[in-house]
Amino acid sequence: MIYFVTGITGTVVPVVVEDLMKKDPDAAFYFAIRKDKKGNGIQARFESVVDSLDLDIPTRRKLAERSRLVEINVEKERLGIDPKLYSEIIEKTEKILHGAADVRFDQPYEKIRISNVVFSQKIYDLFDSIKQHRETYAKNKPTLYYISTGYAYGIHKKPIPEDFPEFHPGKPDNTYAQTKAEAKIFMLDKINRCKDSIVIFEPTIIGGSARTGRTKTYNLHYIVMMLGYMGKLPFLTAPENQLDIVPVDWVAAVISDIMAGDQYHQGVVRLASGAGGVPVKTLHDVGYNYYVTHDPVPGHVIPKIRFVPCWFFYSMINVQKIFYQAMYFCTRQKRFRKMAKGISLLEGYFPYITRSKVFENSRSMELIQKYTNCSSAPTMQDIRDKDGQVIQKGYFGKILADTLETGWGGMVDFKRLEKKTAEYKSPQAALISSRK
Ligand SMILES: NC(=O)c1ccc[n+]([C@@H]2O[C@H](COP(=O)([O-])OP(=O)(O)OC[C@H]3O[C@@H](n4cnc5c(N)ncnc54)[C@H](OP(=O)(O)O)[C@@H]3O)[C@@H](O)[C@H]2O)c1
Repeated sequence: MIYFVTGITGTVVPVVVEDLMKKDPDAAFYFAIRKDKKGNGIQARFESVVDSLDLDIPTRRKLAERSRLVEINVEKERLGIDPKLYSEIIEKTEKILHGAADVRFDQPYEKIRISNVVFSQKIYDLFDSIKQHRETYAKNKPTLYYISTGYAYGIHKKPIPEDFPEFHPGKPDNTYAQTKAEAKIFMLDKINRCKDSIVIFEPTIIGGSARTGRTKTYNLHYIVMMLGYMGKLPFLTAPENQLDIVPVDWVAAVISDIMAGDQYHQGVVRLASGAGGVPVKTLHDVGYNYYVTHDPVPGHVIPKIRFVPCWFFYSMINVQKIFYQAMYFCTRQKRFRKMAKGISLLEGYFPYITRSKVFENSRSMELIQKYTNCSSAPTMQDIRDKDGQVIQKGYFGKILADTLETGWGGMVDFKRLEKKTAEYKSPQAALISSRK
């Protein structure tokens, strides 16, 4: 099968490609890729992705041999692809996986719309040309697999329904959710009106691998856990709210089974843990206990987070933001601007924690059971038994271990924290000994 793939430099798509290499013996790829901001070219970027894949060396070599890189610029006509290459892609591609998106929560609407809506529309145009080409030559129909998000549903007081072929999103939590909802409406319209073969995947929050605990990006719950570890999050709210976290390897296994299986070609598959979401308080307790017992920094004290009412929590956040903005205004010190920006970024994350998001998933579980070799998302949390005791299932241990092994992917410098902790401790020690 020949695939046209976007998002190969991201978190999810490389794991899907790893799986496709194992499940489809004839897999060959066009990878749509752009230069990065540091000036790394597409070849270098692709090579570093291939090096990072969990594949043996012969399979990596095979992947490299079967891959053609396509430099793209979303803002240009036909994605800026050279016309000759564009025609070749139309002639050869059988399936498209569109997994690229701007997943930041703090971007202005007009900017993020380009990566999340315009990009999807241009991918559809390519799909449409492939479809017409294959019709003309009586070849089997192509399929477009689009990765959306459960959070495209925005604010929903009730459990979020599986309402395909309909879709009634609530008020969006941020511009990411807003633009992902727009792109989903666009794709759904193509399914409903044009009867196109489009499969929309709807993962919820994607966490580290259930097998290894590893992740490539540390955002959302990882940031909250990091702030807790660093003692920079004294308050949190909504302890009973559930976070629907699904492991990246399970998400990739479902997507790749459906793509390589080639049996399911139209509809929406939600990738959620459903009723098995983890309550914020459980995540806090398990994380707190783990970090206290495995802290690599001697003497570092991790304060417990206090759960407070929502109004109080948001007032504290606002006060802090205004304080840092005022400090920046008065002193022009960059660190204050950085702190204010950090809080704005967190404000994008908080709705995921403070607003109830429970995802129905029984319809999708039926599809997953029918069309894949996967069962429900592996146990995503240490669960509580009927007496309220936490039963260890292992997943948390793995993801928490990964955060300490990697320092949240380099965001926390344990050596520096150790130095700071020692500096902070020593004046106290000096004071105590002088009192003696
Ligand atoms: N991560 C989650 O928790 C989660 C949850 C639900 C759904 N999803 C969906 O899953 C998909 C993959 O997410 P992810 O976590 O893997 O995201 P990610 O790690 O941020 O990767 C995003 C990918 O999209 C590419 N991209 C974004 N804008 C682009 C543009 N304008 N032109 C070309 N390439 C562009 C990026 O390329 P560069 O490297 O060049 O920037 C990167 O390869 C997305 O559709 C996302 O909405 C993710």
